[in-house]
Amino acid sequence: MHARQLSIFFIFFFGALGGLLFGFDTGIISGASPLIENNFNLGIEQTGFITSSVLIGSSIGALSIGTLSDHFGRKRLLLISSILFLLGSGLSMAAVGFVSMVIARIILGFAVGSASALTPAYLAELADAPHRGSLGTMFQLMITAGILLAYVSNLGFLHHNLLGIRDWRWMLGSALIPAVILFIGSLILPESPRYLVESGKINEARDVLHELRKNTHEDPDKELSDIQKIADQPKGGLKELTTFARPAVIVAILLMLLQQLVGINSVIYFLPQVFIKGFGFAESNAIWISVGIGVVNFVCTILAYLVMDKFNRRTILLFGSIVMAISIGILSVLNFTLSVQNAAIPTMILIAIYIFGFAVSWGPICWLMLGEIFPLNVRGVGNSIGSAANWIGNFIVSQFFLVLLSMFHNNVGGPFAVFTFFAILSIFFVIYMVPETRGKTLENIEMEMRQKAALKKAVK
Ligand code: BGC
Repeated sequence: MHARQLSIFFIFFFGALGGLLFGFDTGIISGASPLIENNFNLGIEQTGFITSSVLIGSSIGALSIGTLSDHFGRKRLLLISSILFLLGSGLSMAAVGFVSMVIARIILGFAVGSASALTPAYLAELADAPHRGSLGTMFQLMITAGILLAYVSNLGFLHHNLLGIRDWRWMLGSALIPAVILFIGSLILPESPRYLVESGKINEARDVLHELRKNTHEDPDKELSDIQKIADQPKGGLKELTTFARPAVIVAILLMLLQQLVGINSVIYFLPQVFIKGFGFAESNAIWISVGIGVVNFVCTILAYLVMDKFNRRTILLFGSIVMAISIGILSVLNFTLSVQNAAIPTMILIAIYIFGFAVSWGPICWLMLGEIFPLNVRGVGNSIGSAANWIGNFIVSQFFLVLLSMFHNNVGGPFAVFTFFAILSIFFVIYMVPETRGKTLENIEMEMRQKAALKKAVK
């Protein structure tokens, strides 16, 4: 189907929907896992493995999807990932024990990982340069909406065994709704015009571009001819990743690792436990802490959506790094100097500031830039590598956070001191290594990269 029948808003809404499932499936487990543990009589390690099995699946899913998307197109693979989402959500709702739950969660992981490697490139390739920042931020907006929905679904279903079906089954099963919407969406979405040119389907690409640009000031024919010029460049395939596109690979991997190593998921996945263990909060409050985090995270991401095309990406990243470093730096010092009772409230406030710092900057921009910085003929595989780095970073933080916390006798100051170190490191990384992409077309970004590499070669 052409873009004609769909409004631009719906194209980007459906296009980014994989983010909603990404957020939902990673967020839902914090509330559901204690219930599953109870129901299946699991040990702590088994429950931990159920949580992290999604991350294992995502790393593998992200890595395997890229070359496929360079060959078969973004749209077709989005459809496949929506089928995996349906399968994984259905199976996890119906799981009968530890093994079947782990299998279901790994399948879900495949889906989440593929969506995270496909969506940023797809959105970047559909968007016009002046709005690419905000349109790309739709992915993160969906992720944060998914996390919030997961927390709300936890809250809504907890202790409600409707129709004789256990609460946690409803929690996990509610992911079926967005999965169905993504499935329908990916049937009707247009293929990426850049992928179409790359595979020689110029007329189709022209149609899609004309529809996508009809309410903008951009000239679709000029854009098409720019894309054609890029697509005519000699193909190097994977070799390009180690030659002229190497800076993009390095930036993508470091952006993604640092996005995780600043510790955001210690808050998203584990904060309620921290407040229960570290500050003696009642178990019943845990879910409300989650909902609070979810709301702050989502609302701040709306802010990011509004400002993304108004400031340079580098400026926003730098701002976010500084806000995060200061807030969790202070948090860490306070927790080593104040008594537990006195530290609780300031810790909450500082965490809210930290989430704000992340949500307006590193949250959206890492995914946005992932879609922007790779040359066309290795964009899929480049996105795979970056996305896999994100999941591996996520896995590391999730595995070590609780261990670190207990090493410091449940004092959050310990793990957050480590995260502060990475937040400070991220400042230097942005200053010295991250390129600016705002306002440039994807073709401009690629040409600049090719020219730089040619210049370097000539100097040598
Ligand atoms: C990260 C996720 C994180 C989420 C929080 C995303 O950009 O990749 O790991 O849970 O932001 O909003």
